[in-house]
Amino acid sequence: MFNIAILGFGTVGSGVYEVIKENNVLLKEKTGEDIAVKRILDLREFPGTEWESLLVHDIKEIIEDKEIDVVVETMGGTSPAFEFVRDALLSGKHVTTSNKALVAAHGTELLKIAREKNVNFFFEASVGGGIPIIRTLTESYAGEHFKEITGILNGTTNYILTKMDAEGESFEKALATAQDLGYAERNPEADVEGHDTCRKIAILSSLATGKEVNFENIHTEGITKIDTTDFEYAKHLNTSIKLFGDAKFENDKLYAFVAPVMVESSHPLFMVNDVFNGIMVEGNMLGKSMLYGSGAGKLPTASAVVADIVAIAKNKHGNVPFGWGENKQEVVDMQETSH
Ligand code: HSE
Repeated sequence: MFNIAILGFGTVGSGVYEVIKENNVLLKEKTGEDIAVKRILDLREFPGTEWESLLVHDIKEIIEDKEIDVVVETMGGTSPAFEFVRDALLSGKHVTTSNKALVAAHGTELLKIAREKNVNFFFEASVGGGIPIIRTLTESYAGEHFKEITGILNGTTNYILTKMDAEGESFEKALATAQDLGYAERNPEADVEGHDTCRKIAILSSLATGKEVNFENIHTEGITKIDTTDFEYAKHLNTSIKLFGDAKFENDKLYAFVAPVMVESSHPLFMVNDVFNGIMVEGNMLGKSMLYGSGAGKLPTASAVVADIVAIAKNKHGNVPFGWGENKQEVVDMQETSH
């Protein structure tokens, strides 16, 4: 038995439970392990559900349980997620998280603990939902010097902008639908003000440079000031408006920003609509490459978490194959440069 504990049974956490249940036979074929959810930590009770008996309210019941191999953190936010993940790693458990706020703020420290304890700390689901951008950057493109990463990295804002553009829908109505569909953060301000994209481009930049990127140094603008008139102007110019997270790597410096931009119809990211994410990566040998897929939502994000569980089950002894070190990457303030 390969036992999992899920911290936070919201959209993604319950999705992980569902994927493990639905694809259990396949997961056993791939790993040779019976992967099972042994515990769920949540403040709620869920009476009458099939997972009611797995619920605990005290993290100690998970940290002190020697039979639990992997902790899945899908709570969101940085506290108590940070303390719970840190303690899980310190107790020798592997961790996978979908929480970009946690990884952007505490990734360096958590990766250090994981290396010291020789356990895995994975976070594929933290950027791009179901798009395997983290393994792609760290494994498939391991031989590259990265030149630029440009992404539509937030499903909620891309959904809102698509509806405003195609259907002239109001910002408020499109946001309400994105929330109903389970794309938005608990506090959608993180989506619409660009903070979610900022953390994601910071994580990708840290992976690309191998150094810690402080997300607070990335100039960030959201989409709250965009209205339907802006889309009328954009259409006249044969463009659309998309929220970009962009990182250019030049001479050991990182030039990064998050902002709505007018995208020409010939640009590959122009056709990335609705909740989809698209990420263009330019490497010195690779040239340009684009990844496209479901960037948010319960099952695509849960699928990425379960892929991390499979990677851990195949390599229980841990080698923390991706991440970054403790050196800090200089970030150039985009407001103070004409770059
Ligand atoms: N709120 C995020 C989004 C969830 O809309 O992209 C996935 O990270």
